[in-house]
Amino acid sequence: MFGGGHKKFRVKVTTGKAKGAGTNATINIKLIDHEGSVSESHVLDKWLHNDFEYGKIDSYTIYVEKNFGQCEHIILHRDEVGLNDSWYVEHVTVEHETEADAHFPLSRWLPANTEMQFKKFDSQLPQVVKKEHPEVYQQRQNELDQKKKDFAYAPIANKEGMPRTVTSLPPEETFHRNYIFDLLETKFTGVISQYLKKMRYEDEFASFDDMYKVYYGPLSPFTVPAGHSGWRTDEKFARLRLTGPNCTVIRGVKKDGGLPTNFPVDKDNLAKHFMEGQSFQQAQDADRLFYIDFKDLDGYIAKSSGKPMVAPLALFYARMDGTLIPLAIQLFQKNADNNPIFYPPPIDDEKVWCHAKFWFGVADSNYHEPVTHLLQTHLVAGDFITCFHHMISPSHPVYKLMLPHFIYLLNINTDGMPVLTAEDGAFNKILTFGLDNCYDLMYKKYQTFKLSDAYLSTDLSNRGVENLPNYHYMEDVKPMFKAIEDYITASLKTIYGGKDQVLKDDFEMQNFAKLLCDKTEGMRGVWGDGAFTKLDDLSKTLSTMVFILSNVHAAANFNQYDEYGYPPNLPFRLDGAPPTDKSPVTEDYLVKLFDVNVTLATMDLGRTLSMQGTNKIGNYETHYEYKPDVLKHYLSFIEALKKVGADNDEKNAKRSNPYPWLSPKVVPNSISI
Ligand SMILES: [Fe+2]
Repeated sequence: MFGGGHKKFRVKVTTGKAKGAGTNATINIKLIDHEGSVSESHVLDKWLHNDFEYGKIDSYTIYVEKNFGQCEHIILHRDEVGLNDSWYVEHVTVEHETEADAHFPLSRWLPANTEMQFKKFDSQLPQVVKKEHPEVYQQRQNELDQKKKDFAYAPIANKEGMPRTVTSLPPEETFHRNYIFDLLETKFTGVISQYLKKMRYEDEFASFDDMYKVYYGPLSPFTVPAGHSGWRTDEKFARLRLTGPNCTVIRGVKKDGGLPTNFPVDKDNLAKHFMEGQSFQQAQDADRLFYIDFKDLDGYIAKSSGKPMVAPLALFYARMDGTLIPLAIQLFQKNADNNPIFYPPPIDDEKVWCHAKFWFGVADSNYHEPVTHLLQTHLVAGDFITCFHHMISPSHPVYKLMLPHFIYLLNINTDGMPVLTAEDGAFNKILTFGLDNCYDLMYKKYQTFKLSDAYLSTDLSNRGVENLPNYHYMEDVKPMFKAIEDYITASLKTIYGGKDQVLKDDFEMQNFAKLLCDKTEGMRGVWGDGAFTKLDDLSKTLSTMVFILSNVHAAANFNQYDEYGYPPNLPFRLDGAPPTDKSPVTEDYLVKLFDVNVTLATMDLGRTLSMQGTNKIGNYETHYEYKPDVLKHYLSFIEALKKVGADNDEKNAKRSNPYPWLSPKVVPNSISI
């Protein structure tokens, strides 16, 4: 079989990094050329070599008949012999010295004792395969049937009406080994912080400066969080609403036609002290007034205190120099004598105002974790990805497009969520709100969640924040969203030949739309509402999902240590009760609001959640798409991201308060803790 009368190919096989990916089974391959000639079967085996191990690339030389043309398909087969026979094959490349490499990005489990045929690039619409290769289509259908079992789902916490997620994690969704190691290391620091606590703090802090002791010393796992700087100033308090972890709840007063009527601020007094010569109405008409209303927190009893949860409102003013400052805080919804509106000095005393700001921060953080962070990124995306795996074949071109942005999400939601949602997790032990309230609020918010509201321009216009100055979140997500949407739109145009009808005929995509938007358990506000009849609808849906998985989550997540790590900056919980009048408070009283255990646990949580361990956007962990006409859009995406990154560096160099969190150098492809 060796010699000049035969054609020589090199076959390179990459075994994936899924849990249990490597195999001891015998693997056979046949090649099929462009005219349909099938080669004889070749065993892929090297003498004295352990083939197909986790994450390894193995190369084999095979000889086929000399008249064999260009390799267009491969047929893979594995037996069931030996322990650990299951095999997750990531990629096969068939190389010939004078021909272009034939790529087979497979990324799937190969079933036993079944010949599996794959076309070059493994990227075809289902209607095409069904028509042209009915036998291969049957194989595709069988795979999808299996995936429906592997990705069986239920609503989160088995609570009907919550987003859906997998009931058990399929092994291909698990973290790579290095990443697990990082996670273990992080858990270890939890032990250190307990040790530190015993060493340094028996019961309480003596001053706000006293808290800094925890960052210093050879054993400390903590650095000084950036958010400590200027924490007591009004400028920093307002800046948290623009660039803190919960920076997407601020709204324009002008857009909403004035402040809510239950927030009757002293307009004349505010104008006199703060509005640079304008009346309140003039400032509102000039779009300089913004507000936040945590009315969603109204009516709950905080678990940690057994007292009503703060549900505050706050008013902000954008000064002529572009600096945002807070002007008023009311801690509960119903204005009353025992629920006054607090103002900054010189109207109210600084410590009284500081006390009100602390309690506003408690609402901000307790809303941020369950809603802005967990629900609106992790869980919404988890629902989407679970449905996607049910209906979209690994051989679908849109699967190839989206998978790099789905990486690890289901793993994080399954294994990482208990950090927040276990009985002894952060929702119960750190937040004042408590686990049951968090679930209840998430449920309510999901009932009114609409994916279309997360589309960037819709979100900004719905909130009326286009004129909000120094809103670095907005400035930075705009070019990122454009890069993502351009990439998705161009790719879909190529995949569907620019024709809505081809999309309508894509029954896998239509099945996905139906499941995603199911009337009893599905997501609301998805473009097309259960049927993708326009490419534009699919493009908006996928772009928004990639945006949520990358940027929206990055904004809500990665600065958590910096902003929460010094709790006076943004507290999760305070001892004592929200003020009901403007009686003076002492500095010592304010310090004693911060419990030592909660403070250290907060630092730990912030550090764990802010950790970064995966590739940045555009730098894919696994490449799924090799078709040149789609690949060129990916290359344009990379170029666009480079430009966004360079522009971002330039912006940050000029900013008095740099905001690095939405640079393509920081934002991952997908959530990642
Ligand atoms: Fe997260």
